[in-house]
Amino acid sequence: MIDIDEFGIHEGISEVILTTLSSDGVPNAAPMGLHRKGNRLFSRIYSSRTLDNLLSYPKAAANIVDDPVVFVQSALSDIEPEKFEFIEGFPVLKSAPGWILFDCICKKGENVSVAEFSPIKGRIIERKIHPINRSFNAVIEAAVHATRYVSLKDEKYLGQIEYYSKIVQRCGAVRDKEAMRLLYELIGHPE
Ligand SMILES: Cc1cc2nc3c(=O)[nH]c(=O)nc-3n(C[C@H](O)[C@H](O)[C@H](O)COP(=O)(O)O)c2cc1C
Repeated sequence: MIDIDEFGIHEGISEVILTTLSSDGVPNAAPMGLHRKGNRLFSRIYSSRTLDNLLSYPKAAANIVDDPVVFVQSALSDIEPEKFEFIEGFPVLKSAPGWILFDCICKKGENVSVAEFSPIKGRIIERKIHPINRSFNAVIEAAVHATRYVSLKDEKYLGQIEYYSKIVQRCGAVRDKEAMRLLYELIGHPE
């Protein structure tokens, strides 16, 4: 039995990178909100490769990641195949400090589907302490707006990205600034 608290997954929504496997065996990674209500764990998933994969092969791994570049890259592009490792045939991210493997029941909705997760195994590779840095959170917010910009093409999201980009420039560690540069590159817009 896995103690989800041990992984830092508490009540509310934790932003994780969900890895899944396509019916023809191709691994995929994308940021998803992992909701916890009591002991219930689930994600609300819009049309995406992650959803297609879960519907055809109902397993997922929540990779607990603190690298802003991995969030941006997996949100807006693909993670290179060599960055995955396979645990009993299922992909997780090599760089993840921890992961939880789930069985999944996916209820398909018209617009949004709900994936309910049951943990089957997990691993904590590295425990770290993290002083709060506003720029990491700003990259994550910018990445959420960037995925909306890419799918909805509404210019209002560029303004939101710009707002968070200023925080990254002011408070950012090197990796956060690199993530922000990659984000602008992947949405095809100058920084
Ligand atoms: C921090 C973060 C959280 C996200 N959470 C969700 C989510 O809960 N559900 C969802 O459908 N998309 C979510 N997204 C958007 C997906 O990651 C994005 O649409 C991605 O391109 C899907 O990739 P895929 O087609 O490879 O599955 C999130 C994005 C970010 C940056």
